[in-house]
Amino acid sequence: MNYNGYCLHSGFLGREGQEKLLLRIRDLLQDAPLYTPQMPRTGKPMSVRMSNCGTLGWVSDKQGYRYQEYHPENRIPWPAIPQILLDIWAGLAGYSAPPEACLINYYDAKARLGLHVDKDEIDMKAPIVSISLGDTALFRMGGTGRRDPTRSVRIISGDVMIMAGPARRCYHGVDRIYPGTSSLLAEGGRFNLTLRRVSTP
Ligand code: SIN
Ligand code: FE2
Repeated sequence: MNYNGYCLHSGFLGREGQEKLLLRIRDLLQDAPLYTPQMPRTGKPMSVRMSNCGTLGWVSDKQGYRYQEYHPENRIPWPAIPQILLDIWAGLAGYSAPPEACLINYYDAKARLGLHVDKDEIDMKAPIVSISLGDTALFRMGGTGRRDPTRSVRIISGDVMIMAGPARRCYHGVDRIYPGTSSLLAEGGRFNLTLRRVSTP
């Protein structure tokens, strides 16, 4: 699928690749546990739980959205990005510099992510590479305006979505998770990993 610079590589990771990657993610979540981010200003809790790996991680709290070098709760520097993810970036991003941040989102059956544009990165030329593990998600792809028409696509475990070119400045979000659609996570739900370049190389 290719739409406005959104490019979905369906089934990019087979079951074995998904399991390997999941083990690495579970391992690093021991050091950087999932936490509940808050919306800027209101402090309202988000339904998606988050963590990061990389030299920088994306965080959100009452003070706003930002990238920082450490976990907001335990204040320990984020763990390194696993090699499997660096290899996926090298193969698909078409960008010379490596990613600096990997946002780890965890969606339970009720979690969703409202329409937004990722624009906290200084380097907006680099794509965002997004990898899904676990239950199927209904992903909404919009345009550069909040009210532009949108298109929805179901994203399944092992799919990799690239947001490059025009899509890099487009609204997108996750409307819902379909519980019980994957056996990858024993606890159910979905991990989404987004690799990001933050600073200009
Ligand atoms: C994001 O937009 O940051 C995550 C998208 C997803 O979970 O597929
Ligand atoms: Fe996003």
